[in-house]
Amino acid sequence: MHKRLMLITFAAAAVLGICLIIFALPEKQEAGNGNTAAIPNAPVNATAAETTYKSNCVSCHGTDLQGKIGPNLTKIGAKLSKEQIDAKILKGGGVMPSFEGRLSAEEVANLAKWLSDKT
Ligand code: HEC
Repeated sequence: MHKRLMLITFAAAAVLGICLIIFALPEKQEAGNGNTAAIPNAPVNATAAETTYKSNCVSCHGTDLQGKIGPNLTKIGAKLSKEQIDAKILKGGGVMPSFEGRLSAEEVANLAKWLSDKT
C-alpha cells in the first residue's frame, strides 16, 4: 500500500518535472533574446515609460522630471546616452536605488529610451 502511494507520488513529480522543463525552458530563452534585442530595436512606448516613471521615479525626480531628491531629468538626453541612462537605472548609485530585478529589462530599456529623447 505504502509502496503504491510512493510510486504514484513519484510519477506525479516526474510528470510535473517534465512539464516544467518543457514549458519553462522556451520561455526563458525568449526572455533572454528579448532582453538583448530590446535596447537597440524596440520603438519607444511613451505611455508605458510614463507609467513606469510615475510608479518608480516620481518620488525623487518629480512629477515633471523637474528634480527633487534626485537631479532634474528634463534634459537628461543631452547629458547621458540611452545606454548610460539604462545602466544608471539598473545600478542606481548614491541615494538612487538599483532597479535591477524590480523592473524588467524591457521596462528599463523603454524608460531609458524615453528619457534619452529629453534634450
Ligand atoms: C530614492 C530616490 C530616487 C529614486 C526612486 C530614483 N532616483 Fe534617479 N537619482 C537619484 C539621485 C539622488 C541621483 C543622483 C545621484 C547619482 O547620480 O548617483 C539620481 C540620478 C539619476 C540619473 C542620472 C542623472 C544625472 O544627471 O546624471 C538618472 C538618469 C536617474 N536618476 C533616473 C532615474 C529613473 C529613471 C528612476 C526610476 C526608475 C529613478 N532615477 C529613481 C535618486 C533617485
